[in-house]
Amino acid sequence: MRVLGIETSCDETAAAVYDGEAGLLAHEVYSQVELHAAYGGVVPELASRDHLRKLLPLLKKVLDEAGGRIDGIACTSGPGLVGALLVGAAVGRSLAYAWRVPCIGVHHMEGHLLAPLLEEAPPAFPFVALLVSGGHTLLALVRGVGRYEILGSSVDDAAGEAFDKTAKLLGLGYPGGPQLARLAERGRPGVFQFPRPMTDRPGLDFSFSGLKTAVVVALRGRALDVETCADAALAFEEAVVDTLVIKAWRAVEATGVESLVIAGGVGANRRLRARMLAMGERYGVRVVYPRAEFCTDNAAMIALLGHLRLAAGQRDDLSIRARARWPMTELEPPGPVAIV
Ligand code: KG4
Ligand code: ZN
Repeated sequence: MRVLGIETSCDETAAAVYDGEAGLLAHEVYSQVELHAAYGGVVPELASRDHLRKLLPLLKKVLDEAGGRIDGIACTSGPGLVGALLVGAAVGRSLAYAWRVPCIGVHHMEGHLLAPLLEEAPPAFPFVALLVSGGHTLLALVRGVGRYEILGSSVDDAAGEAFDKTAKLLGLGYPGGPQLARLAERGRPGVFQFPRPMTDRPGLDFSFSGLKTAVVVALRGRALDVETCADAALAFEEAVVDTLVIKAWRAVEATGVESLVIAGGVGANRRLRARMLAMGERYGVRVVYPRAEFCTDNAAMIALLGHLRLAAGQRDDLSIRARARWPMTELEPPGPVAIV
């Protein structure tokens, strides 16, 4: 079965074609980062309008590249910006109707969780996934498709959001995560020391909003020259990375899994990668990162997820779905549950 995937949940327009036998045939992403940069964050109305402009040319590109027929369509129907989601959902549902093929709306975060299955040597179920993006931070035990146990999540800001907000405090542009990480390379260790929130008590939840406040307090009354900002960026990055490492490893130990997957945009952070890989070696646990283009928002993960569900017989009706919020606990396996 050959599935067209469409992703428009936030500020990336993406399309991909995934074939059950041949794997990923084509995938394209158009990022709106430049469009939103002037405003310091994503402007939902501008995002929707830009998806409208970019989606059809992008679809044509992946369809030409993949060639052949399409047997089903999957579009992200949540969680995300409703106006943005509606563009992909309406186009996908309409194309499916015109082509007389089944259509399914899929969960963006589930796409991230299963993105490592796009790689050549995918991790076997069950695995623990640490999902760290701009909108979400969570740890999940992934037993199979649609079988997720949320072990912990952020009670306030997501890790990426904390990076972006702190970057703004340090006078950096949007999106701040990669820029803060670059600045941190010039920082001197030990100049600032920030807390590792919620690591001193049991549990797997996260809290990052206090860290941002800690940065504000530490910088109060100081001249914000590049050196000071770099020192603060390094201390902040170390605090976030330490916190993520401590919690992820707590989850691995508690569940006894053999693989840890790290997905989402913050997964691109080099310090996080190095620390997690070192921990994996020390404990004999496989640490898996989807390649960078499948860590950030993309439609390859949506087409793959759509394939897993459509091929199992799951289908949506003719309605066009878009959900700003969609708890992962509502997700179910596509077919009979395989016992792991
Ligand atoms: O998964 P993603 O592309 O989009 C969603 O939020 O779904 O994640 C984007 C987030 C942004 O907050 C961005 O600042 C952060 O990932 N990010 C990073 C790095 N690259 C991207 N944060 C820290 N270090 C990086 N190298
Ligand atoms: Zn995402």
